[in-house]
Amino acid sequence: MSAVPSAGAALDATGQEAGSGSRGRGAARPFVAGEKVLLVDSKGRRHLLTLRPGGQFHTHAGVVDHDGLLGLEEASTVRSSHGARYLAVRPTLAELVLEMPRGAQVIYPKDLGPLLIMADIFPGARVLEAGLGSGALSMALLRAGADVTGYELREDFAARAISNVTGFLGEGVLGRYHVEVRDVYQGIGEEDLDRVLLDLPEPWHAVQHASAALRPGGILVSYLPTVPQVMALREALPKAGFALAETIEVLQRPWHVEGQSVRPEHRMVAHTGFLTAARSGGRGASHMTEDGRSPTSR
Ligand SMILES: C[S@@+](CC[C@H](N)C(=O)[O-])C[C@H]1O[C@@H](n2cnc3c(N)ncnc32)[C@H](O)[C@@H]1O
Repeated sequence: MSAVPSAGAALDATGQEAGSGSRGRGAARPFVAGEKVLLVDSKGRRHLLTLRPGGQFHTHAGVVDHDGLLGLEEASTVRSSHGARYLAVRPTLAELVLEMPRGAQVIYPKDLGPLLIMADIFPGARVLEAGLGSGALSMALLRAGADVTGYELREDFAARAISNVTGFLGEGVLGRYHVEVRDVYQGIGEEDLDRVLLDLPEPWHAVQHASAALRPGGILVSYLPTVPQVMALREALPKAGFALAETIEVLQRPWHVEGQSVRPEHRMVAHTGFLTAARSGGRGASHMTEDGRSPTSR
């Protein structure tokens, strides 16, 4: 195991992290060098860029100079050298997750929202996240105010997650994002955790460790793409003292709304993954039935 070096920094007076891409409250802020901007063309196509003095964005419709964006207010319109118009906005978390550099598959925005609620994430929650991948879930947790310790098997993915997270939330977030290159199946070093979140192929190897690391009543949430994986996890959970398990799938059907043509879109993301949540039993684990099932699991 090894800790990934970070440049920790304190939160500013508003509780927001300083730095590029940070989400400050209040008045409009002009675009500055180092932050991410989304250019949206007339057909709704999105292009993510990181602003730098002298930089250029090249498209089939000509060139957009970064210098022409620096200092502009959000939601300004800019033109390329060939006259194409682009709306310039800061990317939302959902937009960034879909556009950012990825190594591993990210958790889709449609699942990130429900996941935050299933895990009941709150500001200051002590969270262990295992399987950082590209850092999409880390971003959602950190922006909701959690304190995150992240375990990731691969050093390159750990570095990618940190770079994506700081690119969005700023370097200051590293004061509450601690990443270790480490196998969660071998154990969890933390104690009295509020939440354990697992996005990796065989979470059942980690549930005993999660049970020991969570405080009584703490919540484990796992994200899994296939039914056999969900079955194996659900079998392991009560044996490790977890209760109140539930598994859901989130379906999102976008609609086409244009004049009189109002109908579901022809295409949708048909399947991403299943979300399973359960509560650490603590003393309540003694209420488990003999077959290891909680009488109140769904
Ligand atoms: C699907 S990706 C996670 C994506 C991430 N949740 C996101 O939203 O960007 C799964 C990650 O789990 C990591 N992983 C697999 N087994 C692991 C283990 N035993 N301990 C820690 N990380 C593991 C993989 O290297 C991979 O980066």
